[in-house]
Amino acid sequence: MRDRLLAAEKVKAIDWRDDALYLLDQRVLPFEETWHAYTTAAGVAEAIRSMVVRGAPAIGIAAAYGIALAARERFAKGGDWAGALVQDFEVLANSRPTAVNLFWALNRMRDRLARIKNNESPLAVLEAEAVAIHLSDREANLTMAQLGADLIRKHQGNLQTVLTHCNTGALATGGFGTALGVIRAAHLEGMIERVYADETRPWLQGSRLTAWELANEGIPVTVNADSAAAHLMKTKGITWVIVGADRITANGDVANKIGTYQLAVAAMHHGVRFMVVAPSSTIDMALASGDDIPIEERESRELLELGGKRVGADVDAFNPVFDVTPADLIDAIVTEKGIVERPDTAKMALLMCRKRLH
Ligand code: MRU
Repeated sequence: MRDRLLAAEKVKAIDWRDDALYLLDQRVLPFEETWHAYTTAAGVAEAIRSMVVRGAPAIGIAAAYGIALAARERFAKGGDWAGALVQDFEVLANSRPTAVNLFWALNRMRDRLARIKNNESPLAVLEAEAVAIHLSDREANLTMAQLGADLIRKHQGNLQTVLTHCNTGALATGGFGTALGVIRAAHLEGMIERVYADETRPWLQGSRLTAWELANEGIPVTVNADSAAAHLMKTKGITWVIVGADRITANGDVANKIGTYQLAVAAMHHGVRFMVVAPSSTIDMALASGDDIPIEERESRELLELGGKRVGADVDAFNPVFDVTPADLIDAIVTEKGIVERPDTAKMALLMCRKRLH
């Protein structure tokens, strides 16, 4: 399966080459495939804030490369270059608040910086750490894809019609995806009849990005309005809702793209299974429950404008871009360390003690 998954890999959104970080601009996909080059932490932070790069794991990877770039710039200036890097950590940490992968990756870079030995080349060490973060996310995707597909087979062996939300694919990760990775693996194993992709207002990660990724690979996909999801569960034989996560707390609550919570409520009502797929870098054991997760609110114009044109009345709009699904609405959390079914605090703690499965 691993080789078949790797062979099916078509899209990537993050490229580290020629002393620069290249990001595929996700604001203009699928109509334009535009890459931008970044050489500073401030540039990378702005790319995260403005959503050139998005998706929890991809944000973390980009931030790690941002530190490798900043180190180069500071080192060339001389003096206490490592001390000056504090500013770059801060600029990157302030780019978006909800995806914990950002802070996880920055902490890893900070720890590695603190452990650099006299006989090591600091710039090479920091670059290698960023590359390792990138590669290990790709490996985690492969493991989770297989585990998630096995879980689907275990519960319902026949053809599945699944619903997904936002974009959790190659564009959002260092590999080919979390929830979308599971869907890809299940498709390769002949288990997927059709994928319904919520359009994911207001950014349209579903209709622009997920539909594009799946259609490119010949996986049958139909886009639906977010508000059609409960109707689909009632009328289209949906067997699984499969989504990603931006932060999972110690009790198994899950923050993900706005609209995920109402999907979980509707899934429970209709007897549809609910799977969350995320690497352990998305798990924040420092927070007891989802109530503690900072939820990003973005500008009201993202709701009131379409393609830069005002379509809503001249009023304010409330635009939280994530919500929290309580653990008791979740059937399974799939990570590269294993699967937690019916998550709770004790099971999450046990999971985090395990080694990665790859
Ligand atoms: O605002 P976005 O597009 O960064 O939100 C992305 C999501 O909510 C994804 O579901 C999540 O980050 C998981 S991506 C593997």
